[in-house]
Amino acid sequence: MTPPATGASPGAGPSLLEPLALYGAGFAADPHGHYRRLRDQGPLARVRIAPDVDALLVTDYHAAVDLLRDTETFTKDPRAWQAGVPADSPVLPVLGHRPTALFTDGAVHARYRGAVNDTLALIEPHLLRAEVAKVAQRLIAAFSATGTGDLIAQYARGLPLHVFTASFGVDPRDTERVVRGTAGMMDSVEGAPAAYDDLVGVVTDLVAARRRRPGRDLTTYLLEHPAGLDDNEAVRQITLIMSSGHEPTTNLIGNALLRMLSDTGYGGSLHGGAMTAREAVDDVLWRDPPIANMGAHFPRHDTEFHGVPLRAGQLVLVSFAAANTQSPPTGSDPAGRSGDGAHLAWSAGPHRCPAKQPALLMAMTAIEQLTSQLCDLELAVEPGALVWRPGPFHRAPAHLPVRFTPLDTLPEPGAMSVPDVSDPVPNRVGGTPNG
Ligand code: HEM
Repeated sequence: MTPPATGASPGAGPSLLEPLALYGAGFAADPHGHYRRLRDQGPLARVRIAPDVDALLVTDYHAAVDLLRDTETFTKDPRAWQAGVPADSPVLPVLGHRPTALFTDGAVHARYRGAVNDTLALIEPHLLRAEVAKVAQRLIAAFSATGTGDLIAQYARGLPLHVFTASFGVDPRDTERVVRGTAGMMDSVEGAPAAYDDLVGVVTDLVAARRRRPGRDLTTYLLEHPAGLDDNEAVRQITLIMSSGHEPTTNLIGNALLRMLSDTGYGGSLHGGAMTAREAVDDVLWRDPPIANMGAHFPRHDTEFHGVPLRAGQLVLVSFAAANTQSPPTGSDPAGRSGDGAHLAWSAGPHRCPAKQPALLMAMTAIEQLTSQLCDLELAVEPGALVWRPGPFHRAPAHLPVRFTPLDTLPEPGAMSVPDVSDPVPNRVGGTPNG
């Protein structure tokens, strides 16, 4: 077997221990146990993220913030590192270079990020909320008469998917390919590169179709953006938005619902005034952020970082989950849970998530709709029996089986009024979002 690709000399890094594997069933079952062991090795520790790929993982909060903001020492461009990684590695769909905001620095990043920000800003919050509520009702109606369901497959996965495919104008017949592509990337298992290529194929066809005939959707807006993206750049930004948006939003909804349903203070059900959607979402963003480990950076030159020697081009990842849950916390909010400003679930620095507000809006609306309609939901299995998806990058329950009193018909939405709108992008040429 070829030695794992690190871009570093053997033994470089804080420890000579065999790197801990951050993939497979063992990690998925107990990520926080892994983070505890890694923290014992210092602010950075060696990890294995695929059978043939090693990295250094930052688990210390201050070191994480320093890294995410230090554009002088670190680049986001993975190409030097990638040259030593097998071309079919399952982590390349997430970490491999593409011309997007995620893999660029400075002026190039600003150009892509401007186009992404302006496109996302076209999503009107009140229409997004109404659209999510409408789709939520449709999804709930599909299983509410049965008294059982899987809140991941039958609910959490469908909501962001619908928003992204509808907003960008994806042909409904291609939605399954979008799901397979984004899920394959994050699971980082064999077949991930093919799943990613198929997703790119869907978006390539979409971009070609909108070049020929513009529509009233975000794809058309991005193509007409003053940044003047060429076809490949447009395809890659759209693929980035879909993959960065769909999976973590699904998992934010799923993780928060699990949090509410397994909260011991409420006997594992939503009866009797359970924790609110906002509390559950905040708690998840601190304790089980949907993107658990990412923030890939590469030293521009040999250097020392928080006492650890780093080699130029070496892969350094940030554990948002480990940094958030460091105990005693070293974040700016030592009390931990009182505000959402200090956790790193959205990352930090120039590459922080540009979609915090729409993602929160989608997640909160989805949870409120579900819990207001199926108000005696309870988990159908013990929380400890849940299976988590593999992969080093995300925190994602594979299924969330529940039971509830079957409904003959869905109640009229009460507090949550749902205006009859079908398009969360009201006017693609209206306004100049984000300047
Ligand atoms: C509407 C849904 C979402 C969209 C469209 C979206 C889009 C994006 C994009 C385009 C980036 C790259 C930014 C750049 O490099 O400049 C990004 C980064 C990021 N997003 Fe989001 N995102 C969404 C939801 C979420 C959610 C729910 C989370 C987790 C709570 C999240 C966490 C992050 C993180 C941690 C990064 C940094 C990744 C890294 O450092 O490698 N995002 N997002």
